Amino acid sequence: MKRVFSGIKPTGHLTLGNYLGAMRRWVAVDQHQADALFSVVDLHALTVEHDPARVRRLSRQAATLLLAVGLDPERCTVFVQSHVDEHARLSYLLECVATDGEMRRMIQYKEKAVRERARGGSVRLSLLTYPVLMAADILAYGTDEVPVGEDQAQHVELARDVAVRFNQRYGHTFVVPRATSPGVAARVMNLQEPTSKMGKSDDVGPGIVYLLDEPDVVRKKVMRAVTDSGRDVVYDREERPGVANLLEILAACTGGNPEALSGVYESYGALKKDTAEAVVEVLRPVQQRHKELCADPGYVEGVLRDGADRARAMARPTVDAAYRAIGLLPAP
Ligand code: TYM
Repeated sequence: MKRVFSGIKPTGHLTLGNYLGAMRRWVAVDQHQADALFSVVDLHALTVEHDPARVRRLSRQAATLLLAVGLDPERCTVFVQSHVDEHARLSYLLECVATDGEMRRMIQYKEKAVRERARGGSVRLSLLTYPVLMAADILAYGTDEVPVGEDQAQHVELARDVAVRFNQRYGHTFVVPRATSPGVAARVMNLQEPTSKMGKSDDVGPGIVYLLDEPDVVRKKVMRAVTDSGRDVVYDREERPGVANLLEILAACTGGNPEALSGVYESYGALKKDTAEAVVEVLRPVQQRHKELCADPGYVEGVLRDGADRARAMARPTVDAAYRAIGLLPAP
């Protein structure tokens, strides 16, 4: 059976982009067709300015939401990254294989470094080495496939390069992974700034739909989405990014096709109304389940404990093999 690994970073409340771009497929496809692991990657949340209590809260919330969207701990492994030491152990070895040039070429690093500096802060070294830790997450489990949104493609490519290089230098140790992305909604855009990704840690709040937004908040955000001055509904990501984004969201929520849906609507208003309702319907069961799970924190904790035990047992042999291959003396 193929191995699948993916993760979500607790740097903000989870968004519709996270759901449509990644989580939905983890639930519908990956947990059924693969030996799959899904992790709240909390170590990654420490790479930018952070508040310890908030990271802890968001980690718990992200784990609860992973279960609320439908991941079934009987079918897959759900755990918190920092509970499994193998990630950090392997990350250091991979830092000895990756280069600083590779790190500095990463788009997300460049964007986030600019943002951190603009806020008057300094750039943490861990932001630069972020993709190496991500490679460790993936490679520790012998992962074949990494289901992610489009924005993570470059990071997965780096994990591939590092795996190939390590194997060439030190002997075959790692499976070389590949990214998989959804056909539609691989990049959900901010409703207020449809040329930028809908990101959970962004500042443009009204343009972001959060998984736990109340139905009326969702409706308001979608109805106020920026479109353009045209009137006809056409699917064109370059020329009409706002409308294309709504068509993609609607298609992803209803199982339709954005191109075909564009022919159904004669006004932006009708498109927005149907998109808002489709999103509300998709979020309704998730929010209901989230509420139930919040009432039973012991259950979530138990899932995370079992998940970490299982993940540790899966990662350890590969990470130990990497330690030996790279030249470290086994502990007596
Ligand atoms: P993160 O936490 O930013 O996002 C989690 C997943 O959601 C996808 N996603 C989107 N997809 C479509 N449209 C959007 N607007 C959108 N926003 C987010 C992301 O592509 C991702 O699949 N570096 C990763 C976390 C990570 C990871 C890993 C992922 C750490 N280690 C190992 C896979 C494997 C990240 O920041 O995702």
